[in-house]
Amino acid sequence: MNAKLLYINTIGCQMNVYDSEQIAAHMAHLGYQQTSSLQAADLIIVNTCTIRKKAEQKAYSFVGRLARLKRKKSNLIIGIGGCVAQQEGDKILDRLPFVDIVFGTQAIHRLPQIIRQVQKKRCRIVDVEMAADTQAPESIIGPYRETSVSRFVTIMRGCDNYCSYCVVPFVRGRETSRQPDKIIQEIRTLIDNGVKEVTLLGQNVNSYGKKEGLCTFPDLLARIDEVEGLLRLRFTTSHPKDLKGNLIRSFKVLNKLCHHIHLPVQSGSNKILKQMNRKYTRELYLDKVLKLRDTCCDIAVTSDIIVGFPGETEADFESTLNLIKTVEYDGLFAFQYSDRPNSPSVHLPDKVSDSQKIERLQILLAVQDEITRKKNQALVGSIQQILVEGFSKKEISSKPANGRRPAQWTGRTSTNKIVNFYHDHNAQDSGQAYLGKLIDVRIEKAFSHSLWGKPLAGASTAKRVKGVECYAA
Ligand code: 5AD
Ligand code: SF4
Repeated sequence: MNAKLLYINTIGCQMNVYDSEQIAAHMAHLGYQQTSSLQAADLIIVNTCTIRKKAEQKAYSFVGRLARLKRKKSNLIIGIGGCVAQQEGDKILDRLPFVDIVFGTQAIHRLPQIIRQVQKKRCRIVDVEMAADTQAPESIIGPYRETSVSRFVTIMRGCDNYCSYCVVPFVRGRETSRQPDKIIQEIRTLIDNGVKEVTLLGQNVNSYGKKEGLCTFPDLLARIDEVEGLLRLRFTTSHPKDLKGNLIRSFKVLNKLCHHIHLPVQSGSNKILKQMNRKYTRELYLDKVLKLRDTCCDIAVTSDIIVGFPGETEADFESTLNLIKTVEYDGLFAFQYSDRPNSPSVHLPDKVSDSQKIERLQILLAVQDEITRKKNQALVGSIQQILVEGFSKKEISSKPANGRRPAQWTGRTSTNKIVNFYHDHNAQDSGQAYLGKLIDVRIEKAFSHSLWGKPLAGASTAKRVKGVECYAA
């Protein structure tokens, strides 16, 4: 019997990428194989995001296009999962008559049961039940269709922080942490399947295990750092209010922990930070960045910024620009504020106009672009150790059929900068020998979003002194 085919469209954050892998794993147990063809699929799942208005619109626009497919193939099952599903529930069934299933962020493990029922009874099902405070359902393992060098591992779900603009606590529920042993078991399985780098995911990793009385996050990192076969370890996201000395020290003492921290600041104005309920001041934030850089000389710091939060004046925005110039981030994700359902900031007065938000966003991105270019340029001539992840995206779309042009590979530095390079024609090894390896690359060119390098012969010689990599040019 031919396997049934599953198409998943994932919109949104890394958490959704992980959840989609979980959906695929659950459905594999029901005999579904993943396909990249929408037309061929027997089951289409859209894993949605509602963090900002635009993400929600993207989900509806994709789902809208599925109506035509359903008309052509009546036994096609269409399921909407993720944060929009959690937020809207049965309203989605009312609005979109061709959708069969709406399942929330805590219903993934019930999906096989739901699908069986839909197949049997041809009914429509909504499951957006959300536990008040219970332990999150355990992740399931594999099967692994293809090897990837780097994978996400969710270590905690939900969020208890209630930043005033944010929908996450309402659509992902209360914070719960997974047991360390289960996390390590999952990482070991990933390594057995060729994975070399894992990124641990949580909305606020600093509070890992606190509620459940598990180990601390730095202790968890230390345990994972020892897992044999793992080359690199990353995590995201760290809330500045809870970033403490023991986590900062981890960057110095752990060998595999990469020198990059994503530390969302959101605004440089103390007035706005207070309105956002972020529970830190710009001074406290800047102090933490200083401590990080004191401890780990080459650590890359990236951040998220919201422009046009209600009540943000020109002076507040100037404070944000000033903070960006002070920190000199390695990279920034900047967003225009949008009202989200249930989030308290919806009720704040003095909304900023769309045109002002657009203007502020452009100014901010231009400031950051200059900083990123300068930082990338400073790396030209240096030797960087990179983990090779595969062909670069550009290469995949432009590879000539005769394959004579040298393959363009891509990897990342410990500081999370993308480095592309050609496989050396004269080298003895095939380009494939690079995949999943740590190699040294001399940086030759800098762009705004990536670097270009030339691999050096032999194994990586980059030295780590007590976990701190400082490369001389
Ligand atoms: N409007 C704009 N940006 C938002 N973010 C979260 N909620 C909103 C919102 N309502 C941004 C924050 C967060 C990132 C994941 O998305 O910067 O860190
Ligand atoms: Fe949202 Fe704040 Fe939680 Fe991040 S920490 S998910 S911004 S509520």
